[in-house]
Amino acid sequence: MSKKTAIVTGAAMGYKDGGPSIGGAIALRLAKDGYNVVVVDLGEMGQKTVELIEAGGGHAVFIQADVTKTADIGRIIQTTKDMYGGLHCLVNTVARYGSGMMKNVAEISEEEWNATLEVNLNGYFKMAKYTIPLLLESGGGTIVNISSIESFVALPNFSVYSVSKAAIDALTRSIAVDFAPQIRANAVLPGFVKIANSENNRSPEELQKWHGDIALGYPMKRVCEPDEIAHVVSFLAGAESSYINGQSIVVDGGRMICDGHVF
Ligand SMILES: NC(=O)c1ccc[n+]([C@@H]2O[C@H](COP(=O)([O-])OP(=O)(O)OC[C@H]3O[C@@H](n4cnc5c(N)ncnc54)[C@H](O)[C@@H]3O)[C@@H](O)[C@H]2O)c1
Repeated sequence: MSKKTAIVTGAAMGYKDGGPSIGGAIALRLAKDGYNVVVVDLGEMGQKTVELIEAGGGHAVFIQADVTKTADIGRIIQTTKDMYGGLHCLVNTVARYGSGMMKNVAEISEEEWNATLEVNLNGYFKMAKYTIPLLLESGGGTIVNISSIESFVALPNFSVYSVSKAAIDALTRSIAVDFAPQIRANAVLPGFVKIANSENNRSPEELQKWHGDIALGYPMKRVCEPDEIAHVVSFLAGAESSYINGQSIVVDGGRMICDGHVF
């Protein structure tokens, strides 16, 4: 094997026009860092991520797969082995959003609760469970789980999302303790990040106003770019973070420390 390999789940570019996404930015950044990248997503815009990586001189393959399905994960692992021989990094980025999920615990249906946890928590658990043997076989590596500041603070009517993110942090700590020193695991907790999927239906003026309103809660006076998450993932995936293990790294421009102040 000539270089390292990373699997990034939820790594499709924005689903309508291939615009920016957090998983896409992570995949592109890891490719620039020299990894072969296995791009995993339910959505066909994963192919767009591969095209962008290849246009930059990198190596990548797209596997259209559902990370909640064990058979699909088997396909991801087999393809990774066949194409690149091993695995050195797993980044879990998938998330399920839906209007039925944005409810308090009294109002959310059991079906919506379970369906959200199936992706946002079990999709992370299953990818870790089935890739850890390959990481170990390959001499060890890193796992980076994309969590959220909603793991620490409660956004109104985001009950199951918050619970899933707090559980991801706990999952990360369990992996960190059980598999060190061969595998290090850390979580990244973004605040609001600009992504195409939530922006597609808004006009440029509406977008500017929306981002401006959100930025009022952020000391940086702007919202986060996907690349600013990808840089942190790159650091946690690589050797320069060699003594960071089991941590929940907040990347929110200082939002959580400002006690609700409006800037
Ligand atoms: N956008 C933000 O402001 C923000 C803030 C904090 C945390 N996050 C986290 O960042 C990550 C990326 O989210 P995003 O906001 O970019 O959303 P997104 O919808 O653009 O990305 C999620 C991706 O996961 C894919 N996906 C969903 N279920 C899947 C499954 N079962 N199997 C395979 N792929 C699946 C989707 O197709 C999509 O491409 C998520 O974990 C999210 O919770 C986002």
